[in-house]
Amino acid sequence: MAESRPKVWVSQPLFDDIVARLHAHFDVVQVPDVSEHDAAAIADALRDVDGALVTLNERIDGDAIAEAPKLRAIANVGVGYNNLDVPALHARDIVATNTPDVLTETTADFGFALMMAAARRVTEAERHLRAGKWQGWNFKGLLGADLHGSTLGILGMGRIGQGIAKRASGFDMRVIYHNRSRLPADVERAVNASYVEFDTLLAQADHLVLVLPYSAASHHIVDAAALAKMQPTATLTNIARGGIVDEAALADALAGGRLASAALDVFEGEPAVDPRLLALDNIVLTPHIASGSLATRRAMVTLAVDNLIAALGAGPDAGNPPTPIAPAAKGGKDAKRPGTA
Ligand code: DGY
Repeated sequence: MAESRPKVWVSQPLFDDIVARLHAHFDVVQVPDVSEHDAAAIADALRDVDGALVTLNERIDGDAIAEAPKLRAIANVGVGYNNLDVPALHARDIVATNTPDVLTETTADFGFALMMAAARRVTEAERHLRAGKWQGWNFKGLLGADLHGSTLGILGMGRIGQGIAKRASGFDMRVIYHNRSRLPADVERAVNASYVEFDTLLAQADHLVLVLPYSAASHHIVDAAALAKMQPTATLTNIARGGIVDEAALADALAGGRLASAALDVFEGEPAVDPRLLALDNIVLTPHIASGSLATRRAMVTLAVDNLIAALGAGPDAGNPPTPIAPAAKGGKDAKRPGTA
């Protein structure tokens, strides 16, 4: 009797032409429409499969993993993997992969765009115009803050943080950063950034951009106390994960004039957005699209498909998926579930 082929679950419609490569190796269960899968649906979907291609919308938790005896690989379409219980996967020797590098430049572009939009009040000004409130050129209307010549603070200096720092050179910005570990001197020179302590970053940044992984340690790292250390003229941009910012404290700071403006692409309870944030004018809100250029989203799916094929022992890289998630050092970023990069 012919040996049955491995079975894989694809949790969302992605790019059919790329996902089609899975059919050469596996029986593919493709979810046809954009779907919300709750814990029970995910456990059901994984129960009988060897591998899965999932997005950040699917939380792969310990219970689902425990109920999936055949599971050997999870390929996440995204660099952040706070949706995966990586320790539980690794405890079962299940390979977990993500999609670093391919989205770095696109995400850095968008982070820069959001920072500019917050500083120069772009979306607020557009709303003003569309609402018919523009009565003529107003010398003192909708004044914003400059980027050029200002100090850019970056919290989290991985690949995307470095990409943002490189872009800042073109705007003659001074770049300071804080990171779990300081970058080697040659990398600091290459991106023209200086390491500072967290409190110095908060106090000196005219524009603070968050690009750090989400973990137990970074949960609400930007809270009321941190916001109070920032300049009232500063802007805050978050393209990492929602849980890094205490959104209630941010809403208070923006409403109370203790922070000039903010830009958020990520939210703690997304897709739900705190109504207090929605009601504010001095905030730019986008629906988690920082990596969302067509070319980059295609590259992410291509890499995830390569990872899944290789992790399940097929294709030219059999057994060596290009971008596996390494087991965390004790207390490292997988120590608790949340994480991005
Ligand atoms: C990621 O990859 O982690 C982004 O948040 C989505 O592209």
